[in-house]
Amino acid sequence: MQDGRTTLSKFLIDTLDRKPGPEVASGLSALLIDVAASIKTIAAALTRGALGAQHGSAHSVNTHGEEQKKLDLVTNDIFLQHCEWDGLLAGMVSEEMEHVYAIAEPYPRGEYLLAFDPLDGSSNIDINGVVGSIFSVLRRGCHQTGAPDDASFLRPGREQVAAGYAIYGPSTMLVLSVGNGTHGFTLERDVGNFVLTHSDIRIPDDSCEFAINVSNERFWEPPVRRYVQECKDGRTGCRAQDFNMRWIASMVAEVHRILMRGGVFMYPRDFKTPEMEGRLRLLYEASPMSFLVEQAGGLSITGRERILDVEPKALHQRVPVILGSRNEVARIQRYHSEYDRGEDKPFTSPLFKERSLFLPETEA
Ligand code: F6P
Repeated sequence: MQDGRTTLSKFLIDTLDRKPGPEVASGLSALLIDVAASIKTIAAALTRGALGAQHGSAHSVNTHGEEQKKLDLVTNDIFLQHCEWDGLLAGMVSEEMEHVYAIAEPYPRGEYLLAFDPLDGSSNIDINGVVGSIFSVLRRGCHQTGAPDDASFLRPGREQVAAGYAIYGPSTMLVLSVGNGTHGFTLERDVGNFVLTHSDIRIPDDSCEFAINVSNERFWEPPVRRYVQECKDGRTGCRAQDFNMRWIASMVAEVHRILMRGGVFMYPRDFKTPEMEGRLRLLYEASPMSFLVEQAGGLSITGRERILDVEPKALHQRVPVILGSRNEVARIQRYHSEYDRGEDKPFTSPLFKERSLFLPETEA
């Protein structure tokens, strides 16, 4: 009997299993149900907070040299346990594992690859702040049957067949795309169902809200400094409007806010750690978030190129990320190209801060 609500299972069956045409994504909905089960288990563990005896440091570091929290490891294991047995995956990659986790005996190997960050924004755990999980699904070529290796995962984000995140806030939500828009499901805790509450999320094209860690300002490239300075100048500057700023230190929380009401999130290239291309990880942070943002009508770039077109070179590669409302991100991309062509000098002069002198009508 229908109760008028769409659960995650109903949504996946309707969207994937009953999809007309030859390209039926066999097994993908079952895999996503397993991912959702991981998320429910993580939500339950997080809700216990300090009572769960899982707070604090694990006294180890991950492949990026970052201190691992106990919950980083617990949540990583939850993903592995829920997803390794079902015969749908060939392997997994995560922020907490240096190498590919190939599915091995006694479990059968399937055709999908899962990359995930089990606990994004884990510095928020100790302050009982918002954290999340991020995941990305690729499908292997049918000729690839052996154990997956690094090369199996090094594919551009545009090839993802599904991507999503969980946000563990006052309510737990799963936000998902299988390539037909971005949809949000809220966890009905007492029943254990994810219920479709935010169908076909659309990011507004324009916004007056930006998110960036301003403590890094002195290390940014000029195009990012220019954009942020113009936002800070507000009504009296060349943008002729006031802007608002947010920083939650959790990419999931920032992207969720942008999906709900628009805005721009930036973790740009900077010179604080010149050996790193960016801060955020391509395969299990930037790529899946870019997929969700583009499916919701937004844009996601490194500053100079579309993130979904970046060809990965390493499992744990980092990239600069600038994503959100289409017109704002396009503006930042333009600032990068003007800078690269040496054309942005006049903008530094107060004389040229008038919209009418410089910017085309449509972009002013
Ligand atoms: O590692 C990823 C992450 O925690 C993101 O979720 C977040 O946006 C960022 O790092 C926070 O960085 P910072 O420590 O500079 O505030």
